[in-house]
Amino acid sequence: MIEKCLFPAAGYGTRFLPATKSMPKEMLPIVDKPLIQYGVEEALEAGLHHIGLVTGRGKRALEDHFDISYELEDQISGTAKEAALEGIRRLIRECTFSYTRQIEMKGLGHAILTGRPLIGDVPFAVVLADDLCLNPEGPGVLAQMVELYRQFRCSIVAVQDVPLAETASYGIVEGEVIREDIVRVTRMVEKPKPEDAPSTLAIIGRYVLTPDIFDLIEGTPAGRNGEIQITDALNEQARRGCVMAYRFKGRRFDCGAVAGYVEATNHVYQQGLGRVA
Ligand code: G1P
Repeated sequence: MIEKCLFPAAGYGTRFLPATKSMPKEMLPIVDKPLIQYGVEEALEAGLHHIGLVTGRGKRALEDHFDISYELEDQISGTAKEAALEGIRRLIRECTFSYTRQIEMKGLGHAILTGRPLIGDVPFAVVLADDLCLNPEGPGVLAQMVELYRQFRCSIVAVQDVPLAETASYGIVEGEVIREDIVRVTRMVEKPKPEDAPSTLAIIGRYVLTPDIFDLIEGTPAGRNGEIQITDALNEQARRGCVMAYRFKGRRFDCGAVAGYVEATNHVYQQGLGRVA
């Protein structure tokens, strides 16, 4: 029912300079696998096999990652090293990959709108690959959200409680609890100061969006930081009662910052979740 997943991946990754000077931050590995591959695996597990990437200048490594490297294949063919490529080969086999470039960095809402030609007029998911979500005990976060979409047929944002001091790093939701893990959102605020935050329930980088979001983004003026915010466009849907916030099962690591990245690396290594245990 939902088959498409959009990955906004045009950002500069300034928190990881100089590592990200000529390399996309989405290619940073957690143990032995780049962040973007974790994201696409999560999408495929949820049944989303049409993958759209909104890239930018200096992001070609992303396209090369989801393509065959003939020289490499030739070199390791017939050796034990082939096993290391099993996962990525499967993604290349089972997914389609489409790309478009965001020419100017004008915010997450703008990035999603840039991906409109890759999506069309159907509901779709959005993954911010620097939020690594793991749920080894059960279905991944996107799979959980797709299941909820089946029930509610409206936009869904994944949320988690954050310390009050950190609200200024997130979109924060307000709403009415309709199930222990679901809030019907009435209002959302992009990166409020703690004193202005309506709650401590923060949106993380997983969304299911209904396609009317595109027209809403088009009508959304620049907001926080002078950027076009997806949170502001979602606010319109929330006013109509069409946004659910979902407390997902699993663990999320903020790999867009060094501390979260190191924590994720240690976790994946220690739990043996990476290929190299
Ligand atoms: C974006 C969104 C924000 C959301 C966050 C999740 O912010 O604008 O609402 O909470 O992603 O990671 P960014 O982290 O790109 O500044």
